[in-house]
Amino acid sequence: MKNLVILSGAGISAESGIRTFRDAGGLWEGHDVMEVASPAGWLKNQELVLDFYNQRRKQALSAEPNLGHQIIADLEAHFEVTVVTQNVDNLHEKAGSSHVIHLHGELFKSRSICHPELIYDVDGWELKTGDLCEKGFQLRPNIVWFGEDVPLMDAAMKEVKNTDILIVIGTSLQVYPAASLIHYARDDVPKYIIDPNMPTIAKQTDLHLIEKGGSEGMKELEELLLG
Ligand code: APR
Repeated sequence: MKNLVILSGAGISAESGIRTFRDAGGLWEGHDVMEVASPAGWLKNQELVLDFYNQRRKQALSAEPNLGHQIIADLEAHFEVTVVTQNVDNLHEKAGSSHVIHLHGELFKSRSICHPELIYDVDGWELKTGDLCEKGFQLRPNIVWFGEDVPLMDAAMKEVKNTDILIVIGTSLQVYPAASLIHYARDDVPKYIIDPNMPTIAKQTDLHLIEKGGSEGMKELEELLLG
């Protein structure tokens, strides 16, 4: 089977009711992103940050995958599929994708503020002040915040280097290093990009553009790939 890598971003989850980042004028669900998604924000107001991600978890629990997620999961019948997502929701997994790399972390995981290797599942939606790791330190959301390292970048690069087909869907490709991944694919690899508002980079590189929303775009691409 050929290898197929999907690079996904917030746009794939838009049809499931989860808002994208940059379509909202720099605000994320009404918050300045640096207040809720940076180490400085955490130090300044831990309660606000915990509450913000609690609300995101609540929202994700009631969200369902859409046709775009579903088609991506179904492609596993025909390809060795790896999903490299910038999303922290679990909708790819809910749709049935079995190999998902979450570059920017996962909403339903927490980790120790002092021992980053201590990572736990979050049952339900709430993470509170006083929830501690086994060594007695506060737990924080296991999310890669602005200015933090992206520990799964090497694993993602390896997948992109080895892929035979690359699909980019629902990302503005403005956040690095994630946005640089596209450049690691071999020159001969067909590269498709699905987005209703093409990111600027799409004009500079050799990509097949599908200017549509996630579900419509994946339907069109599935027909192209499977004939
Ligand atoms: N289907 C597909 N794409 C869509 C849809 C849709 N229905 N609606 C919007 N989009 C596209 C937008 O046109 C945009 O290009 O999804 C993209 C979303 O871009 P961003 O909001 O910038 O999201 P993303 O690229 O995932 O952001 C990257 O930034 O804040 C950080 O860590 C956060 O992972 C996030 C990262």
